[in-house]
Amino acid sequence: MSKTIWVIHGPNLNLLGSREPGIYGTATLAQIDADLAKFGSDQGFSVESFQSNHEGALIDHIQTAPAAGVGFIILNPAAYTHTSVALRDALAAVALPFIEVHLSNIHRREPFRRHSYFSDLAVGVIAGLGPSGYRLALQAAIESLRAGGPAAAPAASTNKG
Ligand code: DQA
Repeated sequence: MSKTIWVIHGPNLNLLGSREPGIYGTATLAQIDADLAKFGSDQGFSVESFQSNHEGALIDHIQTAPAAGVGFIILNPAAYTHTSVALRDALAAVALPFIEVHLSNIHRREPFRRHSYFSDLAVGVIAGLGPSGYRLALQAAIESLRAGGPAAAPAASTNKG
């Protein structure tokens, strides 16, 4: 069983804490990542976080996940949620289970945020719960790995939308 879980954050999430706090809250990315690392290590898992403002850097990172022995990915693609076929294709290519997380509830914001290029590939989606969403996703990822992997692998998607 893999004991390595990656947390991947997309563009502008490095600004958490000061970025639109009314929408994204006041926790910094460093605080969120430290909380996840501790939560994971307390349960015997290595949780490694990565953030980039660059689409290609996120893709390069995801491509290395299988060789790094990653068992599960927790992903907040940020604005790339709504734009990036390339990042979606990287997730499909590595065929690792992932949970899509958004701090804000993307369904009660601007209409362009309602569509995600990732949700139909994801094991699950959490939106609107702030930093707790990452923690809940991590708990679910750990339970899934302990149970021997998710029931629905990303490659099983049939969504044509
Ligand atoms: C976000 C929601 C996206 O629409 C936005 O572009 C982000 C953050 C969230 O966590 O709520 O940058 O993914």
